[in-house]
Amino acid sequence: MSSPLQVRKAVIPAAGLGTRFLPATKSVPKEMLPVIDRPAIQIVVEEAVAAGIDDILIITSPYKKVLEDHFDRAFELEARLAAKGKTAEVDALRAIGEQAQIHFVRQGEPMGLGHAVSMARRHVGDDPFAVMLPDDIMVDGGVLLRGMIASLQDTGASVVALKEFPFSEISAYGCAAHEPATAGSPLVKITGLVEKPKAEQAPSNLAVMGRYVFTPAIFEHLAQIRPGVGGEIQLTDAMDRLLRADGMSGFVFSEGRYDIGQKQDFLRATVELAMEHPELGADFTQFLTDLAKQRLS
Ligand code: G1P
Repeated sequence: MSSPLQVRKAVIPAAGLGTRFLPATKSVPKEMLPVIDRPAIQIVVEEAVAAGIDDILIITSPYKKVLEDHFDRAFELEARLAAKGKTAEVDALRAIGEQAQIHFVRQGEPMGLGHAVSMARRHVGDDPFAVMLPDDIMVDGGVLLRGMIASLQDTGASVVALKEFPFSEISAYGCAAHEPATAGSPLVKITGLVEKPKAEQAPSNLAVMGRYVFTPAIFEHLAQIRPGVGGEIQLTDAMDRLLRADGMSGFVFSEGRYDIGQKQDFLRATVELAMEHPELGADFTQFLTDLAKQRLS
């Protein structure tokens, strides 16, 4: 029998409009924008699989059918590649949809992140599960998520990823009040959460990043809350209730996260991944070095 605290399921809310990347996102969902040759959503799915997750529910919206196509088989393309003997390419294409059970549900109306997550209730059932926001991509081979899952298995409490930010940037995020950290441990006990506070009202400089591991109790709190900041059902507001009832840990990390919903970070992610790319890395790094020398001279 499997342990009741195994985390096998992840929910990826991908129903946002992507207005920060217009006009590119007018007809292409932001989750399909490629970082080199993989769409962002595929990078997030691969991270989940690396952390031991094998069942993924993607919350989409009307106009995002292409996300479903990306994780489906492409018979004609596969047949054409196979006819040319390109079996490695065929295997790579099939693996996109076969690395986990991937399911979709649509959020008909944009009512906020909390509302999107609440749509996963029936699918998730009574098990703990991860929530992964696809604007945040992690280049860490699943290390952060694995650590968060281990923490839930250890303590039984939900866990949220936290990262230090300057106070001037905190108003873009959920923000955590917490007890003092213990030296050498990434975990802090969270005592309160507030969505997008003004710098002067922020309880700390630790911001909520888009990785969460929840007990299913989060759904009861999501069902209770009213619209919050921006008139939306906020996940952070339900988390604030959950932590007061059952406790919650923060998992503080610093490396490997890119907010690809922002142009600057999208470029950083692309450049850094290109520099580490097994085929492109050496030439691309040389190109950047030469370019920088030329521009700075
Ligand atoms: C969402 C959450 C926020 C969190 C952020 C992380 O905000 O509501 O608490 O800090 O993701 O990226 P959004 O970026 O969707 O406005």
